[in-house]
Amino acid sequence: MASRETLLKILDLARWAPSGDNTQPWRFQIVADDHIAIHGNDTREWCLYDFDGHASHIAHGALLETLRIAASGEGLATRWSLRPGSPERAPVFDVRLAPQPGLAVDPLLPFIETRVVQRRPMRTTPLTDAQRRALAAAPGRGYRVRFFETGAERRQVAGLLWRNAYLRLTCPEAYPVHKEIIEWRTRFSKDRIPEQAVGVDSATARLMEWVMASWGRVAFFNKYLFGTIAPRIQLDYIPALACAAHVLILPDTPATGTEDHVRGGIAMQRLWLTATSVGLHLQPEMTPLIFRWYARAGQQFSALPAIGEGALALAGEFERIGGFGRADSLTFFCRVGVSDTPRSRSLRKSVEELMLPGA
Ligand SMILES: Cc1cc2nc3c(=O)[nH]c(=O)nc-3n(C[C@H](O)[C@H](O)[C@H](O)COP(=O)(O)O)c2cc1C
Repeated sequence: MASRETLLKILDLARWAPSGDNTQPWRFQIVADDHIAIHGNDTREWCLYDFDGHASHIAHGALLETLRIAASGEGLATRWSLRPGSPERAPVFDVRLAPQPGLAVDPLLPFIETRVVQRRPMRTTPLTDAQRRALAAAPGRGYRVRFFETGAERRQVAGLLWRNAYLRLTCPEAYPVHKEIIEWRTRFSKDRIPEQAVGVDSATARLMEWVMASWGRVAFFNKYLFGTIAPRIQLDYIPALACAAHVLILPDTPATGTEDHVRGGIAMQRLWLTATSVGLHLQPEMTPLIFRWYARAGQQFSALPAIGEGALALAGEFERIGGFGRADSLTFFCRVGVSDTPRSRSLRKSVEELMLPGA
């Protein structure tokens, strides 16, 4: 079967899969020469955005798909299964690898390492027909893709994200997450988001670093100095207009359990790698979905009643703009467009750091 070197090479590529806030909620274990176990975890204990672990499960799906694509480069086919009885907060995925003569190398393989999030404004050059077709087909069976492309549609989404960002920035429960995940004054970060990839100019970054040192400062700044305006313009409103399109992935049947969200992550990663392959950059816009998950599940996520009310109102606005119903599941939302490659990006923990001892 495969040598340990081959399996390590595959894992070395697979670790480039994206995860919310670059949390990399996984550890690898080489169980046998045809068996890798992925030990997942979720971050719901400390991360407001990991509603019921969904964002982590989506990242697990992205990892499994990236692993599959990487293995195709070694002539190996993969099959994954969720280990029965493994806890929802710590799911284990068993990946079996088998040589398959004549297996085609997946055409997305060259884009595993170049795929990157672009949070800055992109060009408004419209999608070509070929790009739109590629994106629509990327998630595969069981999903459909909805585009928001016209100026009017992008303005509607920009309005949604503007109001969504107000919730994000004034929610006390989101503050520790924001504080934790940005690595200030850096261009690259192996386990967080480096400041320069956040998408603000350096003067705003310095101010944010100072203000975010305590919730007291954030609350004062928000209340008396219109503190949410500058970041919302730079991080939400302008980028929402400055793109070719917003893209929404919807499942044909509602997502109910861990495996459904993992499959959603596979669809997301296929869309993201395909976007890269057709010359587009992409930024996930997941917080409107996440706040809608809370709102539609009737779960309070903030001690401030106004935040919960805001999330409910936003869920309704999202449904109106998208033309879908309260009960419809949404898998992934993002913006795409042509842009220069970001100068700054998140890196990853090394394979050695991610590796658990063998079985
Ligand atoms: C499930 C999920 C949700 C994400 N949500 C957001 C988001 O709402 N906004 C954003 O700017 N990036 C979001 N990201 C992008 C991650 O922050 C990014 O992938 C990670 O920091 C690694 O950076 P890279 O993709 O450039 O390698 C999300 C990624 C995943 C997998």
